[in-house]
Amino acid sequence: MEVFIDTANIKEIKKYYEMGIVDGVTTNPSLIAKETKSFEEIIKEIVSVVNGPISIEATAENAEDIIKEGEKYSKIHKNIVIKVAMNEEGLKAIKELTKKNIKTNCTLIFSANQALLAAKAGATYVSVFIGRLDDAGNDGMQVIKDTMEIFKKFGIKSKLIAASIRNPIHVIESAKAGSDVATIPFKVLDLMIKHPLTDKGIQKFLDDWKKVKKDV
Ligand code: E4P
Repeated sequence: MEVFIDTANIKEIKKYYEMGIVDGVTTNPSLIAKETKSFEEIIKEIVSVVNGPISIEATAENAEDIIKEGEKYSKIHKNIVIKVAMNEEGLKAIKELTKKNIKTNCTLIFSANQALLAAKAGATYVSVFIGRLDDAGNDGMQVIKDTMEIFKKFGIKSKLIAASIRNPIHVIESAKAGSDVATIPFKVLDLMIKHPLTDKGIQKFLDDWKKVKKDV
């Protein structure tokens, strides 16, 4: 499974990209709004660090303007993927952007039906929002499983992104379901690395190493 980092913060991106565990980046308007730098500056920095898919969200509300926005962002760098919200205008825009060989990430997907339609329109990626579904009392992971089953059954080429991940269990379950990608927040990546028994184990080995007789 590919791992994307779900942030617009360059320090967070650098930390995990340089460790070799991150394949791409997803941003959205809310993540960008948390940063102090300008939108252009943020994107410039991300593309200079990460050699992998970088999703930027179009915020126009009709297909024609989404397409224009997508064309503009895709000129910034070859790795830019245009995030398009799942609705009628979004689907029309995805179809046209795909024709122009511009990669898309259909976002805000909350059902396997929406994922199927985004794939039909030609989306390169479809992002199912697990955490927001769970928050609303639905079973986010079931939507991941259903989408994967449908995509596999029909050999659908769109890649499934498990998004809105809130904890390490979401990552394990998404990987088990065969999700192509998980886009993971910085804090969850931190949690995935750590285990108290690892820390305890390292300390014990270090303590015991001090007791070992050494020639030099
Ligand atoms: C996906 O690409 C989105 O940026 C993200 O996963 C949304 O997650 P949230 O529900 O934590 O805002």
